[in-house]
Amino acid sequence: MSEATDSPNISDLLWEQRKFPPSAAFQANALVSETHLYDIASEDYEAFWATQATETVTWNKPWNTICEWKSPYSKWFIGGELNVAYNCLDRHVEAGNGSKVAIHWEGEPGDTRTLTYAWLLDEVQKFSNALKGLGVQKGDRVNIYLPMIPEAVVAMLACARIGAAHSVVFGGFSSQALADRINDAEAKVLITADGGYRRGEVFPLKPQADEAVSSTPTIEHVVVVKRGGNAVTMHEGRDHWYHDLMAVAEPVCVAEPMSSEQLLFLLYTSGTTGKPKGIMHTTGGYLTHVTYTHKYVFDLHPETDVYWCTADVGWITGHSYIVYGPLSNGATQVIYEGVPNYPENDRLWSIVEKYKVSIFYTAPTAIRTFMKWGVEEPQKHDLSSLRVIGSVGEPINPEAWMWYHENIGQGRCPVVDTWWQTETGGIMISPLPGVTTTKPGSATFPLPGIGAEVVDEKGNVITRGGGYLTLTHPWPGMLRGIWGDPKRFQETYWSKFPGRYFAGDGAKLDDDGYLWLLGRVDDVMNVSGHRISTTEVESALVSHPSVAEAAVVGANDATTGQAIIAYVTLRGGASVSENDLRNHVAKEIGAIAKPKAIFFTPDLPKTRSGKIMRRLLRDVAEGRNLGDTTTLADASVVTELQKRAAESNED
Ligand code: WT7
Repeated sequence: MSEATDSPNISDLLWEQRKFPPSAAFQANALVSETHLYDIASEDYEAFWATQATETVTWNKPWNTICEWKSPYSKWFIGGELNVAYNCLDRHVEAGNGSKVAIHWEGEPGDTRTLTYAWLLDEVQKFSNALKGLGVQKGDRVNIYLPMIPEAVVAMLACARIGAAHSVVFGGFSSQALADRINDAEAKVLITADGGYRRGEVFPLKPQADEAVSSTPTIEHVVVVKRGGNAVTMHEGRDHWYHDLMAVAEPVCVAEPMSSEQLLFLLYTSGTTGKPKGIMHTTGGYLTHVTYTHKYVFDLHPETDVYWCTADVGWITGHSYIVYGPLSNGATQVIYEGVPNYPENDRLWSIVEKYKVSIFYTAPTAIRTFMKWGVEEPQKHDLSSLRVIGSVGEPINPEAWMWYHENIGQGRCPVVDTWWQTETGGIMISPLPGVTTTKPGSATFPLPGIGAEVVDEKGNVITRGGGYLTLTHPWPGMLRGIWGDPKRFQETYWSKFPGRYFAGDGAKLDDDGYLWLLGRVDDVMNVSGHRISTTEVESALVSHPSVAEAAVVGANDATTGQAIIAYVTLRGGASVSENDLRNHVAKEIGAIAKPKAIFFTPDLPKTRSGKIMRRLLRDVAEGRNLGDTTTLADASVVTELQKRAAESNED
């Protein structure tokens, strides 16, 4: 099974043989069940995207140039004009679908709101006028710091309607993180709430916002949505209740056509080092990319499907696959405010049952948590409405994929593992559920219109084995730069492999040409000259029936350069010895990948978006003081691990 080589490339250790072709029953109703989209796109990708732009988006003025590519900058649909909010709202209402439900909103405490496209349009027009009344103009930046409430969607669409760029900051971020992002964007207005619900309690947002705004000279006004009911201080002249502004706002705000390259939003992403980067996305190309991918990757039938993406609007997944993609497609979706384990561990499955969710999109970190909680939780509910289930955010371990397929998809639903980034704007590598034969753990192939290749250290294209994932030509949703930092844009993405976009991820190709993501290349370990991906060792660990989740890091080692250290969380009720697990890894992928030490832990340190923080675990393993922990979701997890590392060094 194993074949480690001494090459400088990333080793290819894990071999997954299971295959899942789409069922005939699924194909019978699928939007696409043949390869024609791939065939057309491979002939002329620009023409392909132009067709998508015509079919999926409504333009006020047609473009004259499909794409202009002056590496590293691309422009799409130049000369074209459109309004994103018009595409997400007005066109559906004009088509007679005003009474269609856009959002089934479920608050964490159990309160609900049912919002139609007509209601959303009214609300967005009024809030657009309210923003204008506060002096917001086309080209300005507006910061949004809200819980998962419908007003977050309204605020984003209102900005789009009037041509102001929004910069959403996840509600779990600190006041300092908010202040840094506001200052970098030089935002004029901040939209926040008194507080929101999380794990049964109200978490305050307005006090954090106040603290941030005390060091953000560009903010002129703060709009406050009432949600938590917690006490807040309103600063006369600066702060305004959302409901007060809305009570007097004019009802009509015509959607003004914007140029295709008008800045739609900034979204800050932290990267591994340095200050957060304000990733820039524009209008026509972005909307085309997310509308097209949301339609085909999820096989969306807007008349009958109920779609649910569990991300927060503070991340790119929320922007592209809660707000812009689904609403542009006229979908009906569920938005849930809170955590998956309130009041109990079956909350998500009760929501699937209640709203008859048919398309479900979540993250591997959530799936592995569901594995930890056990199959009893989904089994309490009728999940027969589900048709397609998706995953995004990290490599999905084959065993987690299988668990998801069997216990949530009930063996019936195609699993779409979607690879993309904040920078790519939309999904890039993914199965098409009616076309692609999937393999557990593989994101399969680039979508029609996308060019991806794996290259070695020198930039030579490889067709088999491990290397670096690159994108070979521009795509409509690609980032247009880093706000205020063109040099960093060039250096981060375009300098390692000239002429190619380097995503920072390792990937490998198998004999059938399937792509397997291997995690961030910064995480690749070097053990006795073998370049081993943390993802493959983690997947080998998770393939043991007792293991729910694993994080693997390379720690400095006098003999082997780096030694593999694993942190493992067991499934509910399971137990296994360290030695059995080490042998299991050896059996699955080879002795070279055997962890030197394994620590059992009830939790792993994660970012607030659920990514494992391997850098911190490396610090712990090497006995260093912790660096920046501000993006950590729960700091106590690391303190506990540090304590145990110190104890084991004393042994
Ligand atoms: C990084 C981008 C895209 C929305 C959420 C994350 C990792 C994402 C997958 C996947 C393997 C994945 C990559 C990527 N990633 N999806 N399906 N398989 N890895 O957005 O925070 O910008 O992170 O997430 O490492 O580079 P992001």
